[in-house]
Amino acid sequence: AITVDPSADGAQIDDTMYGVFFEDINRAADGGLYAELVQNRSFEYSTADNSAYTPLTSWTVDGTAQVVNDAGRLNERNRNYLSLGAGSSVTNAGYNTGVHVEEGERYNFSVWARADSRTALTVTLQDADGTLAEAREVTVKNGWAKHKVSFRATRTSSHGRLTVTAAGAAAVDEVSLFPRDTYKGHKNGLREDLAEKIAALEPGFVRFPGGCLVNTGSMQDYSEASNWERKRAYQWKDTIGPVEQRATNANFWGYNQSYGLGYYEYFQFSEDIGAMPLPVVPALVTGCGQNRATDDEALLQRHIQDTLDLIEFANGPVTSEWGKKRAEMGHPKPFHLTHLGVGNEENLPNEFFARFQKFRAAIEAKYPDITVISNSGPDDTGTTFDAAWKLNREGHVDMVDEHYYNSPQWFLQNNDRYDSYDRGGPKVFLGEYASQGNAFKNALSEAAFMTGLERNADIVKLASYAPLLANEDYVQWSPDMIWFNNHASWNSANYETQKLFMTNVGDRVVPSTATGTPALTGPITGAVGLSTWATTAAYDDVSVTSADGTSLLTDDFGGDASQWTHTGRGSWTVQDGQYVQTDVAAENTMVSAGDTAWHDYDLKVRATKKAGK
Ligand code: AHR
Repeated sequence: AITVDPSADGAQIDDTMYGVFFEDINRAADGGLYAELVQNRSFEYSTADNSAYTPLTSWTVDGTAQVVNDAGRLNERNRNYLSLGAGSSVTNAGYNTGVHVEEGERYNFSVWARADSRTALTVTLQDADGTLAEAREVTVKNGWAKHKVSFRATRTSSHGRLTVTAAGAAAVDEVSLFPRDTYKGHKNGLREDLAEKIAALEPGFVRFPGGCLVNTGSMQDYSEASNWERKRAYQWKDTIGPVEQRATNANFWGYNQSYGLGYYEYFQFSEDIGAMPLPVVPALVTGCGQNRATDDEALLQRHIQDTLDLIEFANGPVTSEWGKKRAEMGHPKPFHLTHLGVGNEENLPNEFFARFQKFRAAIEAKYPDITVISNSGPDDTGTTFDAAWKLNREGHVDMVDEHYYNSPQWFLQNNDRYDSYDRGGPKVFLGEYASQGNAFKNALSEAAFMTGLERNADIVKLASYAPLLANEDYVQWSPDMIWFNNHASWNSANYETQKLFMTNVGDRVVPSTATGTPALTGPITGAVGLSTWATTAAYDDVSVTSADGTSLLTDDFGGDASQWTHTGRGSWTVQDGQYVQTDVAAENTMVSAGDTAWHDYDLKVRATKKAGK
């Protein structure tokens, strides 16, 4: 029975409670949300980005063409250009199966080019079945200049190729093709179907740009000593201004990032969908398995100044240095930045917190209204987590970012995670979480868990599922919320859970109590795996028996629980005070430690609840 007390005051739920976390992982930006159709448009792909890359990745040459890196370049941040011989052509293969165009739709082509003697470039769109649009021509002269033409597609194809043919010798760079229709019609804009799917969630905030990509790699920016060094941490100043002047970078996730989708575009998108922008800057301590802390105080101070400049870029008047740059890019009004994250999943709590405090002090001194968010490292429990929380609590941090990716069972069993969080301590930003899978049971377990977030909305102020996007042909991380290729996108079951909660945010929780729920009064059924409950220490006298009655495992949990790395699924019932797992399907494969995939067992599992649990 459920008892509801409408007169009692539960937690207030903020409109910004549920948001999205955008990270350029799984080609979420280039080849994803960023609507550019040409891959490697500036010939900057490099083996430093990915051992399989060359400056001609995604291009094929017919005739003579050479990638050149010399003083004749377009600008200092766009090192390579292509020198095309007379009568030669170069063809781009786009992403996935090719360049996707739709019959009747318009596409805007642009190229930076120069030629010693006046000549023509012919631009065509075609697939294996023939032309996809009428050919276009631009005239190229001495000195770099940007040339534009537009196409109307005469057929729909997801296998298109874009070809540029030079009548006489010419140099080309920043070869670009965009659909005219981008989300909200912005130039250098976003792919409509993906942006609309995100907008349909009605996110309260957009956390960006990562994740691991924020604080891994070198902390130098493009203009510092190690000029053109790849694998730089994500630094916002590298990502604004004219796109042909944004130096590309090696992405933590193993590919090149053009930064065509950069900080201005993130702010613009947040505004377009009515969400609070929530950027994350590197804290000079690398995370995600690269546990190093930078001791270079000058570098740290430069990053702190960059963060102050970021706030000015977002909120400052057009007369300020960085507010002026925002205005020049097309947005004189402020973007209303109120929250900012410093760091992501640092595994060195002391080193992180020492640097975090310097960021926070500088930000609070100049912008006291900004909420500066700290984090609790990569785990949801454990020594690092406890140490990070202790520092955050003692340091009176406003808000702490937590991340976890766990089994659906974990989510079912941790609905009460925040019930006992210290109400006098920092608020929680659940910046990344997901149960391990895109199946219905995962979505359901997340929904169950989210009722616990909501019940604790006085302390859990922000929450975002992660990751948001995945291109099906370039996956580094799964599960993900929205999937796509070069012409289609589709929602996961997890998306539907998020949408349900995000589009129905209440004002306050109405307290309720339930009796007669699972405990020992079953029967209950559900997908409950071994791994979670076996390590909760809530159970005793566990036995696992194969279908033919062979005893596979028994444990009274007096010893080492680490053997319980197995996972299993099936139906559960409560019989005579015991949880019994039956109905387990037939694959009958045991898994080894570290294997996080789901396996079906033909097993029976029996466990007795410990007294008082
Ligand atoms: O969401 C994918 C990754 O998971 C993020 O980059 C990182 O913060 C976390 O480990």
